[in-house]
Amino acid sequence: MAAPLVLYKSKYGTTRTYAEALGRALSCPALSVDNARPQDISLADTVIIGGSIRASGLGFARFVKANAQALRGKRLVFFAVGASPVPGAGDDTLAQIRKRGLGKLFPEAPLFYCRGDWDMEGMTFLDRTLCGLLIKSLQKKDIKELAPWQKALRDAGTKKTSWYDEKYLAPILAAARAG
Ligand SMILES: Cc1cc2nc3c(=O)[nH]c(=O)nc-3n(C[C@H](O)[C@H](O)[C@H](O)COP(=O)(O)O)c2cc1C
Repeated sequence: MAAPLVLYKSKYGTTRTYAEALGRALSCPALSVDNARPQDISLADTVIIGGSIRASGLGFARFVKANAQALRGKRLVFFAVGASPVPGAGDDTLAQIRKRGLGKLFPEAPLFYCRGDWDMEGMTFLDRTLCGLLIKSLQKKDIKELAPWQKALRDAGTKKTSWYDEKYLAPILAAARAG
């Protein structure tokens, strides 16, 4: 792994914090996708890309689509950061996130999950309103009908909670160093 690079798309900082920890572990830069230049990608042989989950969509989706040509041929490792619990066996949450975030792009590249934060107070007015409406609607539903991520957000409610834990980075580092 001659030249790794970590890229991230983060709105509230948790994905950035994970990306910076990966950058320290791999002794390489961790850049926001908004600041990455084409030469940053072309010089790297391994690119780790992280993004936060918003309404089941992935923050880096647009970047990956726009830069698919430049990313082809690199060792790619993706990670998603969300407030919901780590998807368990038989839970297709990650497969759905992959479908929405990557579509048919890079099916061979692994996608890992890191649990992030939930802080409605720290959100923009629009995000707080959206999340407040979502939680209210989830509270009205039969709990048996809820997907695991819906259950977790319903339980988190307006309580500020951090699940940040660098233990989630171990499989990402292993995949980046493999081969
Ligand atoms: C508008 C909005 C929608 C969200 N939707 C989801 C979701 O569908 N699933 C999930 O697990 N987390 C969801 N989250 C939680 C974020 O993914 C979580 O807070 C993450 O830590 C944010 O990462 P960031 O700090 O890098 O932006 C949502 C957060 C916001 C603000």
